[in-house]
Amino acid sequence: MKRTSDSSSQRPKKKPSHRPIHITVGAVNPPASHLNNEKRKFGTSSYGNYTSYYTTRHPQGDATIDYRIDLLDASIFNGKSVLDLGCNSGNITIALAQKYKPSFIKGIDIDENLIRKANTNLRIAYSLRDPNMKELKHIDLALQSHYFPKCLSNMYGLLQMAVPPTFERTEFPWTVEFETVDWTENPYNPNEQQYDTILALSLTKWIQLHGGDKGIKSFFKKVFDSLSRDGSFVVEPQELKYTRAKNLNLDVDNFKFLPEHYNDFLMNKLGFKKCLDLGAPKGSSTSIFMYTK
Ligand SMILES: C[S@@+](CC[C@H](N)C(=O)[O-])C[C@H]1O[C@@H](n2cnc3c(N)ncnc32)[C@H](O)[C@@H]1O
Repeated sequence: MKRTSDSSSQRPKKKPSHRPIHITVGAVNPPASHLNNEKRKFGTSSYGNYTSYYTTRHPQGDATIDYRIDLLDASIFNGKSVLDLGCNSGNITIALAQKYKPSFIKGIDIDENLIRKANTNLRIAYSLRDPNMKELKHIDLALQSHYFPKCLSNMYGLLQMAVPPTFERTEFPWTVEFETVDWTENPYNPNEQQYDTILALSLTKWIQLHGGDKGIKSFFKKVFDSLSRDGSFVVEPQELKYTRAKNLNLDVDNFKFLPEHYNDFLMNKLGFKKCLDLGAPKGSSTSIFMYTK
């Protein structure tokens, strides 16, 4: 895929106020006050908001690897504006930011504790990396560094990340931002910025469990509207299985719109131009798809 030079691949210019002047990483994000009490029951992990996700999800327990990333082409990130939906503790968002240098990457998650963790992770990655490093060689989801050992930041603390308002944010870590948002809560607002690439990894099940068939369709529609022209949507459609669904009163049996129907909806109802099956990552049977608007 070729890197484009049209305006859509620049850092989004609309609504600059959307981005705070300072990123004081590690600080508590304002709570998403709009989340109702039901949605505050995060202790149940019923949104897939697992706390140690990146140290436990890999079958071999190797937190440094995520084979899904190997399937993704650098060209959908490099110099692009990227939105990582359901970013959890931000490990993938941060790794992509370091390796592929998007012009801007935003990770959002419904769980404010995870976003707090993501902000801390960003500050850890920044504190441990070689300040002269031009490019990250390997994606390391554990955010380890071979330059400064972790004991240094344990002894001396993490680097501050607040930047002067005039600072041009073209370099990691200032290209990264995290926000607590329930992305299903509002439809797309045409005044909001659009992104060149949107990721929805291991997210569809949680959206559909809580929003039903209508919810997942609205989710896809919002993704489509939030993408700029020729933008890419990377999605990992999950099976609608969840052993604890009944206890949590989540409806799994009445779904009519199943993962095998997603493609038809995305292509024929929403109007994506192209779909590429990127295959299943090592250790998984679930394919990842890339749709082009
Ligand atoms: C299973 S994790 C997947 C994390 C990451 N995308 C990955 O695949 O490595 C799903 C994440 O989506 C978040 N999530 C679920 N529903 C959401 C919503 N409506 N809006 C934003 N985030 C949501 C959860 O809190 C959780 O962190």
